Amino acid sequence: KQIVVSGIRPTGNLHLGNYFGAVRSFLKMQEDYNCYFFIADIHSLTTHPTPVNLQSGVKQVLAEYLACGIDPEKSIIFIQSDVPEVSELYAFLNMNAYLGELERTTSFKEKARKNPENVNAGLLTYPVLMAADIIIHKAQFVPVGKDQEQNLEMARKFAGRFNRMYNCELFPLPQPFTFDGGDMIKVPGLDGSGKMGKSEGNGIFLVEDPKDIRKKVMRAVTDAGPLEPNSKKAEAVENLFTLLKIVSTPEVVSHFDAAYNDCSIRYGDLKKQLAEDIIAFTSPIRESILEILKDEAYLGKVARMGAERARESAQKTLNEVKDVIGFRRLF
Ligand code: TYM
Repeated sequence: KQIVVSGIRPTGNLHLGNYFGAVRSFLKMQEDYNCYFFIADIHSLTTHPTPVNLQSGVKQVLAEYLACGIDPEKSIIFIQSDVPEVSELYAFLNMNAYLGELERTTSFKEKARKNPENVNAGLLTYPVLMAADIIIHKAQFVPVGKDQEQNLEMARKFAGRFNRMYNCELFPLPQPFTFDGGDMIKVPGLDGSGKMGKSEGNGIFLVEDPKDIRKKVMRAVTDAGPLEPNSKKAEAVENLFTLLKIVSTPEVVSHFDAAYNDCSIRYGDLKKQLAEDIIAFTSPIRESILEILKDEAYLGKVARMGAERARESAQKTLNEVKDVIGFRRLF
């Protein structure tokens, strides 16, 4: 079986972007691949969470993975910090990751711009740790959303560089995987532009109360409406249609498309429909999250089982890595 690795940072509740950009692919892939799905708690340290927030964030994402249907019997579900081999490989990879290329990474530049007082070394080498996560299990595929495209490109670069440097073929070059085989996706937010994000304040969470979902959707940004038939949609309106396509039926989408094109659309109706379709999708997941969160014994068992299996795979690779680097004791 081919190997799959992907992770999510425990920095908040999962939102529709996480689900449709990543988790939906996890569910599909766990049937046919050897999957490693983890919680990237070390990556989340770049923004300095308190210990309490870190702990609750990890527990939340673990419960959400399970509630979405990731099956610990089929997939290896684990917490990044439970597998210290990753940090060891990260240290080795850092020796061949260059300041220039790291500084040029879009997400680094963006984070440095948004938060100039916290440009730490972990932020700079974020793609190196991510590469370690992926290649330590020799993954062939990485299901992630569009925002991770460049990080994944860097992972390929570091894997290839290691292979060439030590004249070996230890690491496959990890490829993106998308749910429908098309382009990597970006789920938009409700604020008119950009992607849905945990920190952007424009997200709808899987665990969110239906009342709050209705409120958020009804407040979503639109425009004054089409002024003439078949006009181009403004970005904010296009985004609502994108969300509608994700959660509604094709019939519903073409109904509102037609209404837009003949200028009879009422955005209030579109939003009501969108809110109800989102709620129909999230409600069962929400209930399951709240149930699973109560069962700490089960969560602990899943995490321990996953850690054991992930470590086994990581140790195997790390031994090979140490061998080719020259750490094998000859005396
Ligand atoms: P994170 O925690 O920001 O996001 C988790 C996953 O959700 C996807 N995603 C989206 N997809 C589409 N539209 C959106 N609006 C949207 N928002 C988030 C992300 O693309 C991602 O797949 N660096 C990673 C975590 C990570 C990782 C890894 C992933 C660490 N090591 C190794 C894969 C392999 C991150 O911060 O994702």
